[in-house]
Amino acid sequence: MTFLSGIPENKQNPETTQRNRLTLTACSHFTAHLSESGSLHKSKMPGLWQDAMDHAVTLARKAGEIVRDALQNDLKIMCKSSSVDLVTKTDQNVEQLIITSVKEKFPEHSFIGEESVAAGEPCVLTDNPTWIIDPVDGTTNFVHGYPFVAISIGFAVNKTLEFGVVYSCIEDKMYTARKGKGAFCNGQPLHVSDQKEINQSIIATEFGSNRDPEVVAKIFSSMRKILCLPVHGIRGVGSAAINMCLVASGCVEAYYEIGIHCWDMAAGAVIVSEAGGVLKDVEGGPLDLMSRRVVAANNEIIAERVIKEIEAFPAVRDDVPVNPTK
Ligand code: IPD
Repeated sequence: MTFLSGIPENKQNPETTQRNRLTLTACSHFTAHLSESGSLHKSKMPGLWQDAMDHAVTLARKAGEIVRDALQNDLKIMCKSSSVDLVTKTDQNVEQLIITSVKEKFPEHSFIGEESVAAGEPCVLTDNPTWIIDPVDGTTNFVHGYPFVAISIGFAVNKTLEFGVVYSCIEDKMYTARKGKGAFCNGQPLHVSDQKEINQSIIATEFGSNRDPEVVAKIFSSMRKILCLPVHGIRGVGSAAINMCLVASGCVEAYYEIGIHCWDMAAGAVIVSEAGGVLKDVEGGPLDLMSRRVVAANNEIIAERVIKEIEAFPAVRDDVPVNPTK
């Protein structure tokens, strides 16, 4: 039996195993040397939160199967804040499955889940280890069979993101990243694009679900300005998490949106930053996970150039209580 990361191979998550194999292959001389010096085991010890991340990958894969199966059947579609803010029974079931399983394994952990918050749970990030879950990112796509749907699981401790897992389940692409350990898609390392010229770039964004004419006007105005810089193109696949993974993969230089939620971006944020990218607020400054605004870019130059053209509009923060007690 081979031991990698201090975990018997047959007990490892396949994604982790594949990644470690790549590491071992790339560094075989180095690891042999370490082995002689007796410190190989230490260098391959699983870090803090590795078991949580492995569990997240397993759950994302399981959730992806449920989502794919559901596409073959009639979906129970409901509306949340408006007729274009959709939710299905599958979103709710998948979130329950993930939370129930995590609670069994890590009873002391906390949760912020899209559908739990919609049902009235608080959206508060504390210092406690917290799973930030979007069970179906791209619900509108899911409802229409548009093939970009993801299970997004971010994990934060002391309000710092530790890992992110985004499973684009129709494409069968498992994106993973752990703080300080790089970003991967199906076990292959990810790197952002090295493009520094905005007029050689593709920028991704979304329309979101706010149909207030003033907001829509600002969204179009920002897009028009960015398009006319000019950029090579504007894209958007209908899932914030997948858009961020496309930045991490190097085929899109930047993604921005106002109106998304912490569960849409938590996992993707780790993946972008571990692929070498930057995360910022749409008016500059650092990303605030609860602000409902994000710019994820390959580098500072592209991020700042995009930020210059964005017309910001207000969005109520995620951590503002919906029904504050008086
Ligand atoms: C939505 C998607 C969409 C973005 C919205 C999000 P959901 O997430 O990520 O691309 O434009 O802002 O709310 O509702 O499908 O989980």
